Amino acid sequence: MRLKGKVAIITGGASGIGRSTAELLADEGARVVVADVDDVQGQAVVDALRRREVEAEFVHTDVRRTADAERLVARTVERFGRVDVLVNNAGVNILGDVVEATEDQYDLMMDTNVRGTFLCTKHAVPVMRRQGGGTIVNVASVAAVVGAHRNVVYDASKGAVLNMTRALAVDHAADGIRVNCICPGLVDTPMTQRWLAGQAHPDEIRRYGLLQRPARPEEIAQGILFLASDMSSYMTGGYLAVDGGFLAV
Ligand SMILES: NC(=O)c1ccc[n+]([C@@H]2O[C@H](COP(=O)([O-])OP(=O)(O)OC[C@H]3O[C@@H](n4cnc5c(N)ncnc54)[C@H](O)[C@@H]3O)[C@@H](O)[C@H]2O)c1
Repeated sequence: MRLKGKVAIITGGASGIGRSTAELLADEGARVVVADVDDVQGQAVVDALRRREVEAEFVHTDVRRTADAERLVARTVERFGRVDVLVNNAGVNILGDVVEATEDQYDLMMDTNVRGTFLCTKHAVPVMRRQGGGTIVNVASVAAVVGAHRNVVYDASKGAVLNMTRALAVDHAADGIRVNCICPGLVDTPMTQRWLAGQAHPDEIRRYGLLQRPARPEEIAQGILFLASDMSSYMTGGYLAVDGGFLAV
């Protein structure tokens, strides 16, 4: 078991990649805190973990809100005494070019994807520092390093997450905190179903990379496990593309 006795927070853990990550990290021995705005699905993930005798908690969290991020970390420490792993996975994507995208959509994507990562990390780092270390995995996207049609705000937000990862790694290496980023290609999740439904440009639909299929969420969770655990002990400030070869061409 790669995470025996560790405590892991997964934001956006109610669905898709976050849900698979909660399940895999639990399989590897972690006690798991699922944080999400979706109380029904989030509690269902936790209930399913508990049926497998995993120690798990759901904490209602809107990662855009300071008080929620603070409470998420406080509840985790109250319940489990520590925070070893933070997976900043909660994210949203609304299609639109710069003319189509509204300011409200801009705020929603930047606040969830960037501010949410900032706030949860802000409150987790002091706990990790006191413990002598931890790992943070930010879920960015291949959209952090390439542009896609009608994805202008999302691409900007994921680029910010990628470079925030590097800056966090610089600041907290001396605290024993490793910070890395995962860049998935297209993954078969509810987000992708919504994204493909609104995507008119044929090139986008072909964008599965060399493997010609979307990833299963479990395949992204394996990359997150690698970055969260000692398997990646010599890695910080980096990114791992789990993209079916998307960035290779
Ligand atoms: N699906 C893909 O193809 C893909 C590719 C690259 C990166 N990603 C990234 O992976 C992450 C997970 O995406 P997914 O495909 O599993 O999406 P999803 O829509 O299935 O799950 C996202 C989860 O985040 C939660 N969430 C949304 N806003 C929140 C908020 N303010 N506070 C807390 N929780 C919130 C949702 O309720 C949901 O449970 C996102 O950051 C996304 O940008 C997804």
